[in-house]
Amino acid sequence: VHWTAEEKQLITSVWSKVNVADCGAEALARLLIVYPWTQRFFSSFGNLSSATAITGNPMVRAHGKKVLTSFGEAVKNLDNIKKSFAQLSKLHCEKLHVDPENFRLLGDILIVVLAAHFAKDFTPACQAAWQKMVNVVAHALAHEYH
Ligand code: HEM
Repeated sequence: VHWTAEEKQLITSVWSKVNVADCGAEALARLLIVYPWTQRFFSSFGNLSSATAITGNPMVRAHGKKVLTSFGEAVKNLDNIKKSFAQLSKLHCEKLHVDPENFRLLGDILIVVLAAHFAKDFTPACQAAWQKMVNVVAHALAHEYH
């Protein structure tokens, strides 16, 4: 992928304002609520029986933070995303058996979370840069699947 200077700027400037614990928790909770079939991967996380239970579940919060922290590594390595996610791609394929379609769903959820948090700054150009970003991440995470 090629990033323009403007795209890089739009991505890193939003990212610098993101609280990874809060936004990560919200993104994973929304994924599990909006697309409930994704709950099957997280059966070890305890109570996911309602939106309230999911939002208040500390394991969901902790894992959401972990996922978004990892996403932050991609933001720091925009020109090397495929390589930096090779190991995680193998893990999600071989060990976790997560269908890569779910990476797209989480990416779209993240866009909603960013738009909700940064309404004023989340211009159409900013959304476009972020849509490209989540697509590149989803692609990188699916890359080692076989
Ligand atoms: C674990 C990142 C999307 C399911 C993990 C871990 C990371 C991560 C860093 C921890 C790996 C470790 O412990 O070494 C990401 C990123 C994603 C993503 C960056 C997309 C942006 C998803 C999606 C699903 C999923 C969409 C399923 C719907 C899981 C599961 C685990 C995991 C089940 C193991 C959880 C546990 O039992 O601790 N992921 N992930 N991931 N991921 Fe993902």
